[in-house]
Amino acid sequence: MGRAKTTVKDIRQAKIAERKLAMCTAYDYPFGLLADEAGMDMVLVGDSLGMVVMGMESTVAVTMEHMIHHVRAVVRGCYHPLVIGDMPFMSYNISIAEAIHNAGRFMKEGGCDAVKLEGGVDFAPTVTAIVKAGIPVQGHIGLTPQTASALGGFKLQGRDAAAAKQIVEDALALEKAGVFSMVLEAVPAPLGQIVTNAVSVPVIGIGAGADVDGQVLVTHDMVGLFDKFVPKFVKQYTNIRETILTALGAYKKDVQTGTFPGPEQSFEMPEETLQQLKKMI
Ligand code: KIV
Repeated sequence: MGRAKTTVKDIRQAKIAERKLAMCTAYDYPFGLLADEAGMDMVLVGDSLGMVVMGMESTVAVTMEHMIHHVRAVVRGCYHPLVIGDMPFMSYNISIAEAIHNAGRFMKEGGCDAVKLEGGVDFAPTVTAIVKAGIPVQGHIGLTPQTASALGGFKLQGRDAAAAKQIVEDALALEKAGVFSMVLEAVPAPLGQIVTNAVSVPVIGIGAGADVDGQVLVTHDMVGLFDKFVPKFVKQYTNIRETILTALGAYKKDVQTGTFPGPEQSFEMPEETLQQLKKMI
C-alpha cells in the first residue's frame, strides 16, 4: 500500500505513540518534492522565505501575496506531508475577523492543510477563532522572529525563571485554544522538556533541545544555501552552495572556451535541407 497523506490526527497521535516528528521548510515545487520524497511528516512554507529566498533583512515585510504564491508551488510537490502555511506579520494581528479571512486564504487559494502563527497567551483567542472556523492551527512560541525586535533580537528566550514560566503559560494557553501542535524556538533544552511534558499536543523544537516531540529546521540552513546568519541550533548536513558554485563556474568556463554546447547538446540538419537553405539565402 502507498504512503498515505498525513493528517492533523496523525500528528497528534505521534505524541501518544512516542514517535518523533520531522518537519522542514520548503518554498517552491522542487523542494516540496524533495521534502515529500525524504518522508517528512510536515512541511512548513515558512515566512523565513523573506530572508532565505527573497533576501530581506527580516520576515516583517513578507505579505499574504508572497506566501500564497510560494504555498501553491510547494503544495504541488507535497503529496504526503502535512503542508502548513506560515501566517505573515500583520495578517492575524489586527483583528480576529481578518485573521480568519487570511487563514482561509491559505486553505482556499494556497491548498494548505493547516496554518501556523506566532504568539502565546495574547493570541489564544485568535487561535480559538481560526480553529472554530475549521482550520487547523500550529502555534509558535519562544523566539518569535516576526517580533524579534521587541524581544531584543534573535536571542535565546526563557533564560530566567519568570520568562521561562511565561513560555510554559503560552504553551498551555495554545493547547487550550486548540492548536494541533506548536513550534518552540530558541529556549534552553530543560525548558523544552518541561513544555513538552506540560502539554498533550506535539511540541516541535528548533533550538529547544532533544527532549521534545519533533524537530524543524529551515531547509536552506541545513543544506548550506543560506549562510548570511547561521544560528547555533542549525546542523548543516551538506553544502549545496559549494556544489552549485562549482557547476556554475564550470559552465562559465565551457561557454568561454567554446566547449559547451558539444555535439551531444546540438541538433542536426539533414545535408539536403542545408544545401537547399544555402541556395535560398
Ligand atoms: O518561518 C519559518 O521558517 C519558521 C521556522 C523557523 C519554524 O517559522
